[in-house]
Amino acid sequence: MEGGSILNFIPGPVTPSPRVMRALSQPMPYHRGEEFSSLYREIGELMRPLFGSEEDLVIVSGSSTAGIEAGISGFVRGRRALTLVDGKFGERLHLISSMYAREARRVESEWGTTPSQEELESSLSGVDFLLVVHNETSTGVEHDLDLIADLAKDRGVDLLVDVVSSVGGVEVRGDEWGAKALFGGVQKCVGAPPGLAPVMVREWDGYRGGPFYLDLLSYREALRRPLRQTPFTPALPLFSALRAALREVHDEGLENRFHRHERLAEILRRGLEEMGIELFARPRDLGRLSSTVTSFLVPGAEEVRQELARIGVMVAGGQGPLKGRILRAATMANIAERDVKILLSNLREILRSG
Ligand SMILES: Cc1ncc(COP(=O)(O)O)c(C=O)c1O
Repeated sequence: MEGGSILNFIPGPVTPSPRVMRALSQPMPYHRGEEFSSLYREIGELMRPLFGSEEDLVIVSGSSTAGIEAGISGFVRGRRALTLVDGKFGERLHLISSMYAREARRVESEWGTTPSQEELESSLSGVDFLLVVHNETSTGVEHDLDLIADLAKDRGVDLLVDVVSSVGGVEVRGDEWGAKALFGGVQKCVGAPPGLAPVMVREWDGYRGGPFYLDLLSYREALRRPLRQTPFTPALPLFSALRAALREVHDEGLENRFHRHERLAEILRRGLEEMGIELFARPRDLGRLSSTVTSFLVPGAEEVRQELARIGVMVAGGQGPLKGRILRAATMANIAERDVKILLSNLREILRSG
């Protein structure tokens, strides 16, 4: 991995490449001028294929949650929302929807699993919106959005999808899923620094406006001006860095990138299993093991995490009820095969001597 003396397997923020970090120190364009307009335009052009849709892509300056709240608030206001909850980020979607929806329900299962297809189907009646996290970063489960979107479509339920830890690393098929909106991230599979929230709004009808700073209607209005803009001062250096990261994504090629993530996750899973380490996630029919985040059970997880950190290999611990029980390693953005091998050999060493 380039760009730092530590090996960063944290599932975001990842370590951006040196080229992306250098873009942060470029002179800042005037945010109401030609140069910013073309920067924002290029970001849109480079990013839309990552979402699998050619509709409006707006960028909110803020972390991914800003984009999520901007979308959820405007769509579910006064409506009935159902959230699929089987991890921390599903919990968060539910929490946000409960602040705005007329009724906020959940269909849930133990973290690391998924609800069954029947459970989801039977929960969909009397619901206007279904909220789903594509890749549940807290457990390492990628939900089967092809299937979930079909179930929602069959019942006339609109779909909102959090693709924060999948976009740019796994194929996201916004148009095929027929999602109203998709909420992305830049600091994970895209390989940019954190602080920008890309939101793909495929269909604006039904969007009733969000809180003042997070009202996507004002982002749409600014996007459609002759000189493309944002309604408020954008985090300019982050826009330059995002463009540099997106150029790298396309230099590699989307298909190649998706395959690399898949292959690295497989190598990691195989290596862990060869060491007798049990994988944590047990997805049922609504999901599969993630190719961007792998979670595993290790005795003394926190001590092992600290031991790895001491030698410069950063992995993440568990969140919420999984704290101290699991470790999580991301195969995202610039991680290479040799990095995964270094992680595995250090882990082997620590477990042998521990
Ligand atoms: C799936 C998912 N959704 C939402 C978020 C929240 O992102 P942020 O902390 O950038 O607001 C994360 C961050 O890890 C995530 O993995």
